[in-house]
Amino acid sequence: MNKLFYGDNLTIMRMLPADSVDLIYLDPPFNSNRSYNLLYKNTTGLPIPEQIEAFCDTWELDYEKSEMAYDIPNIMQKYGIKNDVVQFWYYLILALKSTNPKLLAYLVYMTIRLIEMHRILKSTGSIYLHCDPTASHYLKIVMDSIFGHENFRNEIAWCYKSRPQSKRYFGKKHDTILFYSKTENYYFNWQSAARPLSETTIKKYRLSDTDGRKYRLEGRGITGSPIRSAKDVDPRWEETNPLLVVRDYLDEKIGVALEDWWQIDIINQSSKERLGYPTQKPLALLEIIVKASSRESDVVLDPFCGCGTTIEAAIKNHRQWIGCDIAIHSIKLIQDTRIQKYGFNEDVEYTIEGIPQSTEQAQYLFEQDPFQFQYWAVEKTGGFCSNRKTADKGIDGRIYFETDKTLCSMVLSVKGGNIKPGDIRDLRGVLERENGTELAGFICLKNPTKAMIQEADAAGYYEYHGVKYPRIQILTIEDIFNNKKWYCPSVVKQVRKDKGQTFLAL
Ligand SMILES: C[S@@+](CC[C@H](N)C(=O)[O-])C[C@H]1O[C@@H](n2cnc3c(N)ncnc32)[C@H](O)[C@@H]1O
Repeated sequence: MNKLFYGDNLTIMRMLPADSVDLIYLDPPFNSNRSYNLLYKNTTGLPIPEQIEAFCDTWELDYEKSEMAYDIPNIMQKYGIKNDVVQFWYYLILALKSTNPKLLAYLVYMTIRLIEMHRILKSTGSIYLHCDPTASHYLKIVMDSIFGHENFRNEIAWCYKSRPQSKRYFGKKHDTILFYSKTENYYFNWQSAARPLSETTIKKYRLSDTDGRKYRLEGRGITGSPIRSAKDVDPRWEETNPLLVVRDYLDEKIGVALEDWWQIDIINQSSKERLGYPTQKPLALLEIIVKASSRESDVVLDPFCGCGTTIEAAIKNHRQWIGCDIAIHSIKLIQDTRIQKYGFNEDVEYTIEGIPQSTEQAQYLFEQDPFQFQYWAVEKTGGFCSNRKTADKGIDGRIYFETDKTLCSMVLSVKGGNIKPGDIRDLRGVLERENGTELAGFICLKNPTKAMIQEADAAGYYEYHGVKYPRIQILTIEDIFNNKKWYCPSVVKQVRKDKGQTFLAL
């Protein structure tokens, strides 16, 4: 069964049985010092001031990660990794802790996940780790440690053209894909990715048999060595030397095996397949991997599935698939684009796991991950999430609406735990402080008290074209499941795909 998981892939992979997946492709956040934001723009093309943090790939070696770093050698040992490799990691961790703590944090994050990937991969399976030169050399050591150097198959360079960035070094125009198998006995179908024969080679097939099949003659000398001369193509030579010649038919040729460098266009502004997801990979790239390293009906996993390129490659080529992403808008985007394109029905051809369908499940999400709960709640009511910095100021998201003169917003604040009248007073403060903010919405798991409702009523109304809108509105999660909506002037939800905008409300 095909599955789309919303949540942290570590938790999800820990639930998957060992030896259950045939192919893993992962494209984790890897380009340090760059945080990817999805920019939302309104219908007029003006940028909306907020950005949503789709994912942040700068890593801090906080206390938790630091503790985990020291535990990595133990985890490796328990998993059965050789002692000398474990020792190597012990010293590398010590060295990186002082010289490059960010990189260490990243490697810790990746190592614990790659161990899970190794566990769930079948013995005939393969894994493709997409990264770039920022950390590829370190990731290769991680992969060698977990999958074994002997199972390293290729370092693939995905080469692309785009505007050069610097005059101080050569343009950085390739990504690296590390291809490992789990064992020696892995499935690989080179023919699926073979390139067609060149025109020059095709022209060598000049002869036609009675059925019109094109061929050329291949001969062997008395000693068995190949004959490379004009005789190769001279039919008279075939008549006079029938035992020394074979027909090499063009229609039996599969093509030329693909090398380890692939030139495939990057997704840019003018790409037809562009979905507006900042790190979207081309379908052609994923199709090569899926076709070469899995058979029909095999299970393909992408634990960092983004906007679902791997999922589309799997659907298109009749594989089963599992996708995970920690960002709710990825899940929504995949559903609305990739899956819809193939007419798949939820609960029939695929399921979505991890998105709350009831107040109890929303409560569970809040307990597991308060930030994801916040994102989910904001988007469920049609809002755009704030990045974490703004969220700290009490604004967790916004709903945008256009008035005659300007673009206005309703700020949203989400509370999963205990609530009090002071929360509503704080929201009033935000309304007074923020220019262009006329309304505020409060989303809570628990029912608001009378005092809270009175506090919200005391904020009065915003009037537009003779209609009065309560300045502070409250929705509980239960209200949201009952389809209650914010009351505000026409909401900006029309988006322009060509500008990479997406409407994310779930
Ligand atoms: C580089 S993008 C993947 C892009 C994807 N290959 C595509 O073509 O659209 C990385 C994705 O990993 C997700 N992500 C980051 N950390 C994650 C985690 N711990 N669990 C699941 N997904 C995660 C991000 O939300 C992001 O969508």
